Amino acid sequence: MQAKIRVQRYDPESSEQPWLQEYDVDAPERYSVLDALVKVREEIDPSLALRCSCRAAICGSCAMRVNDQARLACNTRLSSVVEDGGTVKIEPMGNQRVVKDLVVDLQLFWGKVRAVQPYLQPDAEPGPEEEFIASNESMLNLLTPMGCIMCGACVSDCTALEVDENFLGPAALAKSYRFVADPRDGKSGERLGALNEYGGVWDCARCYMCVEVCPKGVAPMDRIMELRESVMASGAPGTPGSRHVQSFANSVARSGWLDETMLAVDSWGKKNVPKLLSEAPLGIRALRRGKFPMPAFLHHKRPGHRNVRRIFERAEAGKE
Ligand code: SF4
Ligand code: SF4
Ligand code: FES
Repeated sequence: MQAKIRVQRYDPESSEQPWLQEYDVDAPERYSVLDALVKVREEIDPSLALRCSCRAAICGSCAMRVNDQARLACNTRLSSVVEDGGTVKIEPMGNQRVVKDLVVDLQLFWGKVRAVQPYLQPDAEPGPEEEFIASNESMLNLLTPMGCIMCGACVSDCTALEVDENFLGPAALAKSYRFVADPRDGKSGERLGALNEYGGVWDCARCYMCVEVCPKGVAPMDRIMELRESVMASGAPGTPGSRHVQSFANSVARSGWLDETMLAVDSWGKKNVPKLLSEAPLGIRALRRGKFPMPAFLHHKRPGHRNVRRIFERAEAGKE
């Protein structure tokens, strides 16, 4: 097949700005995006920089954006992203500093993974002749997060990271889940305490991008939601994130719908006046767009709110 490969190029030594460069490639049907890029590098432009190693979706080094979505280039058939004679857009991963062309600096990625202490911390070491025995059942839910190949695709397309670099991000949080849920680890309490803070589990925007782009089915967002439940169940001290969830549930259980005004007050705390004032512009915008029922402070109970209450009671009873 014939395809135009439009690559975002960047070379800090020759230009301050990235630019787009097109290459015409004649590629057999079986070619992956990576095969096509390697062909470009070998036959047309040896200056094109990209990372790859295993070419078999194992090492995680070839993640890049293909038509605006992070993918493993070696695991993406060229014909699946471009029609014969068409153009495919290739860019470096997002949310990470570009070093050159399609190569990004992975310092941010690894810094976040290191921050969650990605290793077992048992309460006691087994003796020389002993070993930790974990039942098969207790390890089953770890299989998905253990499949992570650290490719960074989820971090590339994470919408929360795009606006706040302090967020631990999907890969690190999925890794954290892997140890929190491991019965041999003795530090889940401390881990959950840290994840309850700013930058942790509450900062995920639940946009689903990490689930969509992960090539290994790790589904980081689902792992983050499980961590949220564990944080709540652990009785971790109230932080804006956990209070937000509690306030949401309380108001729906009480009145049948969400009390937006109390959500902000409960999340930040009544005494946190500077923070509440900083939310005022958002409140005004929401008011203008009809997101607040008027008057906002008169939050009345919806018809049928008792049925909603019963749902909450049954859910609570089901946990016992
Ligand atoms: S679901 Fe959460 S962690 Fe995943 S990409 Fe969206 S904001 Fe990021
Ligand atoms: S969770 Fe998936 S997308 Fe994210 S680094 Fe691991 S394998 Fe890659
Ligand atoms: S080259 Fe190893 S995952 Fe693509």
